[in-house]
Amino acid sequence: SGEVRVSAPGKVILHGEHSVVYGKRAVALGLDLRTHLTVSAAADSVSLCLPDVDISKTWSLEELRALWKQMGGAQAPDAAPLADAQAALLRSQLPTGAGLGSSAAYAVCLSGALLTSQGRLDPGEGRANLEKVCRWAFRSEQIIHGTPSGIDNSICTYGGAVNFKGGASTPVEVPPLQVLLVNTKVPRSTKALISGVRERRERHPSAIDPILDSLDALAERGIQALHDLASATRDQDRAAAHETIAELIEINQGLLCALGVSHPSLDRLVALAQANGLRAKLTGAGGGGFGIVVEGLAGKEDVAKCCLDLETHGYQVWRTRLGAPGF
Ligand code: PMV
Repeated sequence: SGEVRVSAPGKVILHGEHSVVYGKRAVALGLDLRTHLTVSAAADSVSLCLPDVDISKTWSLEELRALWKQMGGAQAPDAAPLADAQAALLRSQLPTGAGLGSSAAYAVCLSGALLTSQGRLDPGEGRANLEKVCRWAFRSEQIIHGTPSGIDNSICTYGGAVNFKGGASTPVEVPPLQVLLVNTKVPRSTKALISGVRERRERHPSAIDPILDSLDALAERGIQALHDLASATRDQDRAAAHETIAELIEINQGLLCALGVSHPSLDRLVALAQANGLRAKLTGAGGGGFGIVVEGLAGKEDVAKCCLDLETHGYQVWRTRLGAPGF
């Protein structure tokens, strides 16, 4: 009854994009750009309003049931949540199709709001409820994307930082991690980039498989470094953890280049960051989209200079702290 308001964060993959598709470890963090959804009861239809991307659509309940059947909804683990007449209004701070988890944040909001409005989440069952939301959001991502690894819906559900492997996610301690989020403004297709990696691997399995193993090891080292940073009490330990994180970022970007998923706009971004003494990598599928620059212990002025350099070269830059809360 009444209105349900929910929100979910976007995401940044720190390590493990692409290799996660092959069952390797990945680590992702919540982004403080969020998607907000309000769901309210309607008369006899389902309406969806997404003003930020200029979409507004209404379906009759009959149309929806037919659609649900078509999507194989009957085989889903729970009954269809889309059974009642509802109106949904979605507002998002996340740019779409850029690797920041806009579709997953939407899927998490929609699943969570519908499960809430239909009384399917149990009071006091925090983690179990989130698991339910995450499972439904994954289903939605499968419909939208085909064969997603599941990392996006996991981080957008749980927030903070997650260690993701083989479809299972566990929370990771989040230290204050300040980054520059950099938009190359170059559009790309996640699907095409994933196919590109698959084809390169088919041509050269003995060369590519060790890269995927390396990316797995990097994610594991990255999680250790986040832990070291979170638990550091002395300045020298904090500095050492920041240095490790920066070096892992640099290695990761090199390996993603070797997989063929970088782009001249991303290579330039990395070089500009490097010229300012900072390390950067692409985040998400690559081929354009977004990159992150880790600030580490760089001074305010150096960071400001790096931002200015990037903006002068046509990039859009946000300063942000990773590890935003989940659904
Ligand atoms: O769609 P993006 O840019 O967030 O890419 C997701 C990361 C991949 O590992 C390339 C795909 C996946 O499903 O994990």
